[in-house]
Amino acid sequence: MGSKSLGQSAEIYDYVIAHGSEPPDDVLRALQEETAEIGVLAAMQIDAEQGALLTWLTRALGVRRAIEVGTFTGYSSVCIARGLPEDGALLCLDVSEEWTSIARRYWERAGLSKRIELRLAPASETLEALPMEESFDLAFIDADKTSYASYLA
Ligand SMILES: C[S@@+](CC[C@H](N)C(=O)[O-])C[C@H]1O[C@@H](n2cnc3c(N)ncnc32)[C@H](O)[C@@H]1O
Repeated sequence: MGSKSLGQSAEIYDYVIAHGSEPPDDVLRALQEETAEIGVLAAMQIDAEQGALLTWLTRALGVRRAIEVGTFTGYSSVCIARGLPEDGALLCLDVSEEWTSIARRYWERAGLSKRIELRLAPASETLEALPMEESFDLAFIDADKTSYASYLA
């Protein structure tokens, strides 16, 4: 299998996945397979090595509170939540009940439901409504590209 996003060869991709710190486990593999059934939109899901990087970054930075804009079926959220401490928290923003209902099932299956809160609304509205004192150690933005500048503002 070759990476869809980083442009490296299939051999290097397979090596990174086989020898990386967090190869996809049964939960993530099942999520990849179920997401693939959606069809062409499954390409929105992050790749396995990106997920491993998110888990590693979350752990290495000692992240306790994280936010994700664009959850889809949940792959990146599982990876981030796995890097958090037991009492850490991930706030997920998305507009799709349909796709995030799949994410909810995998959060449950991965034992991560207690660490993850989902808010279903356009991200700009959710972000504007956050209290001024709310802060996050890590933000992963993976939604509608044209709004990124406003998400960062
Ligand atoms: C590229 S996918 C996210 C992939 C996900 N990070 C993963 O690892 O599978 C983009 C997601 O952004 C959501 N989205 C699109 N526009 C949005 C908006 N204005 N506010 C919040 N979420 C939005 C879509 O519903 C979709 O689930």
